Amino acid sequence: MMDKKIRKAVFPAAGLGTRFLPATKASPKEMLPLVDKPLIQYSVEEAVECGIDSILIITGRDKTAIEDHFDISFELEQVLLERGKKEMFELVRRVSELAKISYTRQKQALGLGHAIYQARDFVNNEAFAVLLADDVVDAPKRSALRQLIDVYEKYKAPVVATMRVQGEAISRFGVIDVEQIEDRIFRVKDMVEKPKPEEAPSDLAIVGRYIFTPDIFSAIERTDRGAGGEIQITDAMRIMVREGKEFYAVELEGKRHDAGDKLGFLIATVEYALKHEDLADDFKKYLKSLQERL
Ligand code: G1P
Repeated sequence: MMDKKIRKAVFPAAGLGTRFLPATKASPKEMLPLVDKPLIQYSVEEAVECGIDSILIITGRDKTAIEDHFDISFELEQVLLERGKKEMFELVRRVSELAKISYTRQKQALGLGHAIYQARDFVNNEAFAVLLADDVVDAPKRSALRQLIDVYEKYKAPVVATMRVQGEAISRFGVIDVEQIEDRIFRVKDMVEKPKPEEAPSDLAIVGRYIFTPDIFSAIERTDRGAGGEIQITDAMRIMVREGKEFYAVELEGKRHDAGDKLGFLIATVEYALKHEDLADDFKKYLKSLQERL
């Protein structure tokens, strides 16, 4: 069963987005635009490029913007066609044809583990990917999810993405205790969600990309409320590791941006604008002109 390819991906998008208020008061943080695409489109494209064809988005209160974004926009398409804007029409149409996307609602914001638990019927006994859209990973050679899938295909066991984080900032993440087995690949020995800096077992912080096997659901069922009073996915993974289940971690190649945070979002915006085909030159000129003011 576990030899099968990863075909399904789950996108938790039911968080309250409190770090980005008031922008996220009536629309999910996953819809914040990074230059010209909402955050969630980047990670949906990342999944599709890895061969995933079936996607479940776990939504919260304000799901309409996400659903509308990935749906056909009949009126808009008609207007673009009437005005002869074929390229824009295709750009818009392509978004609705990206993948087969379904939605389910997390009725209460009880944490990431609880959000992922809502995917149990969709997953139906297959290994699957989880992507947190506000973790934007700029990895030009191999996308973050591809790096995880490569490890999964080799070791046939769940995999979590990580990056190195120095100092106090480590306590904003799930942190893993590891044994290195290859360049950038580790066997997970233990993990802890949002530890105090002095209690972090290493400097390897979890980034929002995971490959799970379906036994994660029974682990979530056995997970008590943890950090922040929430049902944490890190705690569910820890149950599996402590029960002797093999778990792997990959130290991502590439740059991770925390786009759910105002400063992280600004940095990601500048980085992506500097790479954008139509904007890079003018934007660079503008940034240079700022030097006198800084
Ligand atoms: C979540 C996970 C945490 C992980 C982080 C990555 O935390 O619980 O383990 O390190 O995403 O972004 P959150 O940022 O939702 O508090």
